[in-house]
Amino acid sequence: MKRQLHLNLFIHSRGHHEASWRHPAASPLALTDIRYYQDLAQRAEAALFDSIFLADQLALGDDVAQAARTWLEPITVLAAVAVATNRIGMVATASTTYTEPFNLARQFASLDHISNGRVAWNIVTSWLATAAGNFGGEGQLSHAERYARGEEFMAVVKALWDSWAEDAVVDDRAAGIYARADRIRPINHKGEYYRVTGPLNMPRCPQGRPVLVQAGSSDTGRRFAARHAEAVFTAHMEKATAQTFYADLKALVAAEGRAPDNVLILPGLSPMIAATEAEAQRLVREINELSDPEVGRKRLSGRFGGHDFSHLPLDRALRPEDFPVPSSVEAARSRTEVILNLVRREKPTLRQLLASLAGARGHFTFAGTPEQVADLIEDWFTDCAADGFNIMPPVVPAMLDVFSVEVIPLLQQRGLFRTAYAGKRLREHYGLPWPLSAFKERALQET
Ligand SMILES: Cc1cc2nc3c(=O)[nH]c(=O)nc-3n(C[C@H](O)[C@H](O)[C@H](O)COP(=O)(O)O)c2cc1C
Repeated sequence: MKRQLHLNLFIHSRGHHEASWRHPAASPLALTDIRYYQDLAQRAEAALFDSIFLADQLALGDDVAQAARTWLEPITVLAAVAVATNRIGMVATASTTYTEPFNLARQFASLDHISNGRVAWNIVTSWLATAAGNFGGEGQLSHAERYARGEEFMAVVKALWDSWAEDAVVDDRAAGIYARADRIRPINHKGEYYRVTGPLNMPRCPQGRPVLVQAGSSDTGRRFAARHAEAVFTAHMEKATAQTFYADLKALVAAEGRAPDNVLILPGLSPMIAATEAEAQRLVREINELSDPEVGRKRLSGRFGGHDFSHLPLDRALRPEDFPVPSSVEAARSRTEVILNLVRREKPTLRQLLASLAGARGHFTFAGTPEQVADLIEDWFTDCAADGFNIMPPVVPAMLDVFSVEVIPLLQQRGLFRTAYAGKRLREHYGLPWPLSAFKERALQET
């Protein structure tokens, strides 16, 4: 069989375009209505997507007056989505900076049981500076320290997930034996940031461990991904940078002694699709007219850790000196590099820059026919830029449905995408190996 493409649906507001929430084709449901998430997941499952994904921030944005950027807490939502779906995988974001490893390991193990093995964790260190104010902090931890804590956090959660052997639960009611205590053991972790005795207080989860997803693209973020991630989300505004990222990350994965095929790279793609290219471009113009540059200016400031852009005029060409140097940014460092690259390449005005970020916040946007979208996907997939895509419809459900009905059949005809789910677990959809518990690994070493 040909190498298979992986598709993840990134659910965000009423679509990824900044103005989607007020577009007539957007869902009429409230963003606090669980049916909104269940409905989108069911549509994605009917179209055979590998998974859905929910991002998360731990503070309210300062643009709430004009932007629908509120949502429900992702782990809670996925529990409700799990019982409304059967096959599709589900990725929830949770932070290593603002959670305890024991809590997080329990929550994701529970979700994996609830969904019968369909869960993944998007590991973030939380770039948003204002989140610190909600967790008793004086200020945000530095980029380097967040990743250092994240590293130790990973060692703890992996040990907790592995603290039960596959065969620890006996559940023999007649004999009165629930579990084999010798197949469950403490982890006794004592590190710089965490002290955790363990073991986890629930049996090993159906996938062994939840699938691990990561989305940091800075140098430190890439090295972290190379050690831990099984799927990587990333943002690129041109194919060339996506190819460089792909080659670099696969090499880092190999240098960690892991198989490069066991780490899927999924760049974002936000397609506006219509029967003709001209009509797709008209739809983009129509939605752009609903967006407010002052909302974009606030978001830009957030990406750069709160840097003040209020003095910049909207209509003069931007220069790199108008921005802080990315290596000095403690917030969303890699995304600031994407933005600076665009400024160097195209010298847009602030108004033009904000319009291009309004589409999908620095991910690849495209307007065209279903054939053109399928061609683009095939080109990136076969030309070492992607193992699949994080599909970010500009408006949902409208553009999700067009993608499912018009683009996916083309990908299937080309033999690139499944025509039915082959397995039941997310590891099977993604084609990933099964992690062994420490017990099994030791047994294998001894044989
Ligand atoms: C598709 C995608 C989704 C992301 N989702 C989140 C998120 O939900 N919460 C968050 O704090 N960061 C999110 N990020 C940001 C990264 O995880 C990372 O924290 C950020 O890029 C800063 O790290 P870096 O400088 O290593 O890239 C996302 C990034 C991408 C590409």
